[in-house]
Amino acid sequence: MTMTDPNAIDVNDPDRILDIARANVDPDEVVHAVTDNADALFTWDYGKGQRAALDKLYEKAKRSQWNGSTDLPWETEVDLEKYEPTVDPLEYEYFFENPESPLVKLNDAERKQLDIESFKWSLSQFMHGEQGALLCTAKIVETVPWIDAKYYAATQVVDEARHVEVFSRYINEKLDGQYGINPHLRLLLDDIINDSRWDMTYLGMQIMVEGLALAAFGFVHGTTNEPLLKQLLRYVMADEARHVAFGVLSLQEVYESFSHAEIRERQEFAFDAALRMRDRFLRQEVWEQFGVDPKEMVKFQLEMPWEMKVFQRLLFAKIVPNCRKLGLLDAGDGWLRDRFTEIGVIEFEHYEDTTEEYENFDLGAGDENVMVAH
Ligand SMILES: [Fe+2]
Ligand SMILES: [Fe+2]
Repeated sequence: MTMTDPNAIDVNDPDRILDIARANVDPDEVVHAVTDNADALFTWDYGKGQRAALDKLYEKAKRSQWNGSTDLPWETEVDLEKYEPTVDPLEYEYFFENPESPLVKLNDAERKQLDIESFKWSLSQFMHGEQGALLCTAKIVETVPWIDAKYYAATQVVDEARHVEVFSRYINEKLDGQYGINPHLRLLLDDIINDSRWDMTYLGMQIMVEGLALAAFGFVHGTTNEPLLKQLLRYVMADEARHVAFGVLSLQEVYESFSHAEIRERQEFAFDAALRMRDRFLRQEVWEQFGVDPKEMVKFQLEMPWEMKVFQRLLFAKIVPNCRKLGLLDAGDGWLRDRFTEIGVIEFEHYEDTTEEYENFDLGAGDENVMVAH
């Protein structure tokens, strides 16, 4: 990953956040090439089940396939006026009732429109992230040396294709059109794919991006009353929980043999990814569209009181316990614990990690199990 020195940056500097965004925009791009710097590994050791936990996950994945074309109620008419797309009532209050907010000048119709555009923007980022997962797991099939992991990752490639398919269909059929990829998200996905070390694909995608997605989907699933999206997310989450568990189960073994210096690099990579994901939720593209100064708005968002940042904090509800399980929080001098404390998300460290809870996400297991806040 192109490392900023994580000890030297001001993580809440709006200029830093917006400069990164400005440097990474090409609105006309249709195909985007990233060098993946990796060797494709054959293994001649075909002994299935040598890694029993991965084998169990593979067998489960084969039994858990669903069809995005026929298993979801696509006949549902989606009327955003009726379904209230807002997913975070505290953010809504902060944005529209705080007299300091750059958004107070918007009238009721503009607020409603902003809410709808933010919703479309969010789902578009989910879709782009799903494509990132599709490419990353295809890379893992090639680069991981273990046959059980190649088998499992191959099922995940199919899962991710299905996720891209259903998000894309929802956005283009029900919401009339997509937003381009957020620059922070694009940079993060590029860096994950670009890294030559196969365990970094796992850490960046399975632990960080998918851990965040699992939490975000859980929040939206729990708050939306739009029935098609609710069901779509429930199906996707059943897969995502396996994906995150795959990451944790694989990396546990890899990290056992790593030196202190190698672990420290993973801690820094994880934090850099966490920061990019936080910044991608600041949605500066949407503010610009409504004539709101993105710098003022980004600053205002970062100054949101801690107790109101429930959604922003919950995004880390899976990442932090999984980093703990991997030993990344406290390795060395506890560098990552300090960083997660600084950005206010260490509170989740004792939540269940995903290797313990992934079966709770099974489609038959009930919706109450998939909420992020227990
Ligand atoms: Fe996915
Ligand atoms: Fe996934």
